[in-house]
Amino acid sequence: KCDEDQLIIDAGQKQFGATTCGSCGMLYSADSPQDQLQHSQFHQRFLDAIKFVGWKKERVVNEFWDGKIILVLPDDPKYATKKAEEVRKVADSELGFQQITLSRPSTAKTFLFVSSDKMVVGCVVAEHIRQAFRVLEQQPALPQQHQQGASQEDILERHRTWCCSTVPERAICGISRVWVFSLMRRKGIATRMLDTVRNSFMFGSHLTKEEIAFSDPTPDGKLFATNYCRT
Ligand code: ACO
Ligand code: ZN
Repeated sequence: KCDEDQLIIDAGQKQFGATTCGSCGMLYSADSPQDQLQHSQFHQRFLDAIKFVGWKKERVVNEFWDGKIILVLPDDPKYATKKAEEVRKVADSELGFQQITLSRPSTAKTFLFVSSDKMVVGCVVAEHIRQAFRVLEQQPALPQQHQQGASQEDILERHRTWCCSTVPERAICGISRVWVFSLMRRKGIATRMLDTVRNSFMFGSHLTKEEIAFSDPTPDGKLFATNYCRT
């Protein structure tokens, strides 16, 4: 979240008595009936979606003191793929993705972090890719000739494409989603999930940080990815 967003939220909290629900993490104004209705509609649906009852067969790929990571593959039993999809939908709606279809559903691997109190608090969707374009840290200044006679849109479009390198680099694993439950962030859950993805994405091999690529990162995603790839 950028500082500006944070300021607005803080101001809201003082002015309108906004509260964060301690179970579902939704920020809402207790003074507003609409907000309360929205929260009550969201609350149970969200908790049901992340509830994890335990499965007969679980592909546990890592275990920690505060939870475990389970891998779900496209051909797994319905109860597993259904839960993975449910959690992906929760993540997608928070990320503002409209469509819930994956680019290549048959190859997508879903990693779920299940907390010790039986909730899915983290989700990573990883897909096989061949190449990726590195996002450049600093936008290079536009050369003079590009600015003359170009419409605003042209310039914006170039700005956007210029933020990415045009040189494809070899990558093996594309991270199309990474999501952690809002009340469980900054506990290293995303870091542990990505480390686990690198170890279990390809049988018998360990991927380096250069061999994974994040697609379309959000501001939160960029901060996380920058930190993750550096360390
Ligand atoms: N602001 C600043 N630094 C951050 C942030 C942040 N919001 N999030 C992570 N970092 C950095 C920090 O350096 C952090 O280490 P520290 O806590 O010791 O300072 C380090 O990354 C590791 O963070 P984790 O605890 O492993 O990350 P977390 O479990 O909190 O998950 C995530 C990060 C997945 C981005 C979470 O904030 C989230 O779900 N956000 C909403 C959804 C989203 O935007 N996901 C990314 C979409 S991009 C994509 O899917 C390809
Ligand atoms: Zn709630």
